[in-house]
Amino acid sequence: MHFSQIFLVLWCGLSLRSRVLAASAAVSSAPVISDITPDLVASVGDDIEFNCTVENVGRMSVSWAKRTSEIGSVVLSMRNILSLSDPRYTIVETNDDKANKATYTFKITKIEATDMGAYECQVILTATDKITKKLNLAIKHPAIISEENTPKSMLVTEGQNLEISCHADGFPQPTISWERENRAIMPAGGSSFDGQTLRIKEAHRLDRGGYYCIASNGVGQPDRRLIRVEVEFRPQISVQRPKIAQMLSHAAELECTVQAYPAPAVFWYRNGAKLQSGSNYKISNTASSHESTTSILRINSINELDFGDYYCNATNKLGHADARLHLFQPVIPVPSM
Ligand SMILES: *[C@@H]1O[C@H](CO)[C@@H](O)[C@H](O)[C@H]1NC(C)=O
Ligand SMILES: *[C@@H]1O[C@H](CO)[C@@H](O)[C@H](O)[C@H]1NC(C)=O
Repeated sequence: MHFSQIFLVLWCGLSLRSRVLAASAAVSSAPVISDITPDLVASVGDDIEFNCTVENVGRMSVSWAKRTSEIGSVVLSMRNILSLSDPRYTIVETNDDKANKATYTFKITKIEATDMGAYECQVILTATDKITKKLNLAIKHPAIISEENTPKSMLVTEGQNLEISCHADGFPQPTISWERENRAIMPAGGSSFDGQTLRIKEAHRLDRGGYYCIASNGVGQPDRRLIRVEVEFRPQISVQRPKIAQMLSHAAELECTVQAYPAPAVFWYRNGAKLQSGSNYKISNTASSHESTTSILRINSINELDFGDYYCNATNKLGHADARLHLFQPVIPVPSM
């Protein structure tokens, strides 16, 4: 072996040794954030404090900072000095010189909603290097139902399934329950339902009405919102007097009642022809309730040709229905006054 080769091996071995030594010395004296207060939940008006304990603190500068975005933060304190003057803030430095450690206690009085967020304890090592640990401060706030994510009204065709979802914000996360207006029984039975999504299976016209979404999280009053449910269905006709007896030259009224939603178009027919209001007939359609239309065909003065069948026909976008009414001359004349 040549002398220079021996020297190289020796030199390499020595330099490796010294580097290991330097590294272990650095580890034992590097500052460490040994303790930070766990995540906090506070209510508006509370006083809180949180701690950061640093070992091997030496002459390092320890700061509390508040995260303002993913990457941005604002420094609140450095060592025992506030860098942001807010009368609600206090910083206390507690040194344990023997153990070479220090605790930085950051206090906030009269908590406000805007105090929520991440707080970071930072030990500045160099201009470009720091060690950090953070805690999250959550502020309780009441449940609020989200306007844009919760419908005001829903439309369903009878026989179809319907799902209504309600979304609420708040901390802690609100729970959602449902009730019907006027304390009506829920479609699936019972007086209420717990869950974010209300499901109505094979909707029935009786399921129509107002449903309350109620969001609560134990903070303040629960929030509630009324959601209107409309159930569409095809017309159905009922006739109380399908046979009407009346004498010549007298007036007669033929009446049919149509259940339908949306509101139906109701027409009267005789011998295949649509009847119009005029000198002999008068037709009046009246909505007697949300889903009910009453149609009356009035014949002012009956003549011979008016006896026979009349049809009340009702149509909406879901279908059609009709009923037959019969006008006849009584065999025994009705005594006139
Ligand atoms: C913070 O540290 C101080 C001093 O060590 C202690 O009295 C206090 O209880 C600690 N507070 C919390 C929230 O850990
Ligand atoms: C009205 O109902 C009658 C009886 O079913 C039917 O013959 C007629 O075609 C209907 N008219 C219309 C315009 O739907």
